[in-house]
Amino acid sequence: MLVLGLESSCDETAAAVVADGRRVLSDVVASQNDVHAPYGGVVPELASRAHVVHVIPVLAAALERAGVTLDDIDGIAVTYGPGLVGALLVALQTGKALAYARGLPLVGVHHLEGHLSAVYLDDEAPPFPHLALVVSGGHTSLVRVDDHGVVCELGATRDDAAGEAFDKVAKLLGLGYPGGVAIDRLSKDGDPKAVALPRAMTAKHTGDDFSFSGLKTAMLNHVRAEGVPEGQDLADLCASFQATVVEVLVRKTRRAVRREGLEHVQICGGVAANSLLRAEMRRAGEEDGFRVYVPPPRRCTDNAAMIAAAGYHHLARGERAGLDLNAQASLPLPGAGARRRGAGRRGARSGT
Ligand code: KG4
Ligand code: ZN
Repeated sequence: MLVLGLESSCDETAAAVVADGRRVLSDVVASQNDVHAPYGGVVPELASRAHVVHVIPVLAAALERAGVTLDDIDGIAVTYGPGLVGALLVALQTGKALAYARGLPLVGVHHLEGHLSAVYLDDEAPPFPHLALVVSGGHTSLVRVDDHGVVCELGATRDDAAGEAFDKVAKLLGLGYPGGVAIDRLSKDGDPKAVALPRAMTAKHTGDDFSFSGLKTAMLNHVRAEGVPEGQDLADLCASFQATVVEVLVRKTRRAVRREGLEHVQICGGVAANSLLRAEMRRAGEEDGFRVYVPPPRRCTDNAAMIAAAGYHHLARGERAGLDLNAQASLPLPGAGARRRGAGRRGARSGT
């Protein structure tokens, strides 16, 4: 089954053609980094406008690179949330228009389910059940994955996402947007023990939730007291910040995987491209006896191949979205509500 995936939830316009949820025939991403860089973060209205400009050329390029036409496509999968509403609407309306005009089945995909599915585009994918650490610019969650699209969120950040912390700290240090890659690169020459920073929510009673806003404030206070560092001092500060984020992420993942009795862990989302996180999670897996799966860096950040991969399973189950499918800025994963009420709920389905 050939699925056309479409994604525009934040600042990447993406289209991809994927066969049977696994084989990527094309994967086209138009990034808007240049549009948002002067502001140090995504400006929603500018994102929407750039998506409108890019969506048709990106779609055409995805079909051309896959060597197919719309006649060959069996179904359409499009991100319907969570994300910026104006941004989401661009791919969503494009997907709905194509589905209507061509009489093709359509499914809406939860953006995080897309990230969770990126790993199935590689040769070695984790069996079910497994634990997933979803770390992106908008989300930081620990998720139990029982099957394709059957997930339970065990914990999430109570304030900033890990990627958001990377981006805000990079802005503070004058490293441009998005900042994760720049901090990752600079950290390679820095001393991760140079600056002591707070590791919030690491005590056992904090469960599987995260908090990164205190770390961000600690970085702000450090810069206020000592100014923006340069040279080796800048590398040391970056390395200290990165090591702190990674230590928290790995420590909490380790604890959750042990408690849930799981043997397989995947990391996904933009921050999964971070070199220290990849290395430290692998090391933890070797020590504790769990296997770690991480998509290649280009599939960690937003793309439409992961949306097509997730959508394939919904389409194969016969699920269909109507043309009333709408964009949802906020779209909790199954389990999130139950967790907040203090009860666990397993195996709820996500997606439409
Ligand atoms: O998944 P993604 O493309 O978009 C969202 O769904 O949010 O993630 C983007 C985030 C940004 O915050 C970016 O700074 C971060 O991923 N990121 C990284 C790295 N590459 C991207 N963070 C740390 N290290 C990296 N190498
Ligand atoms: Zn994302």
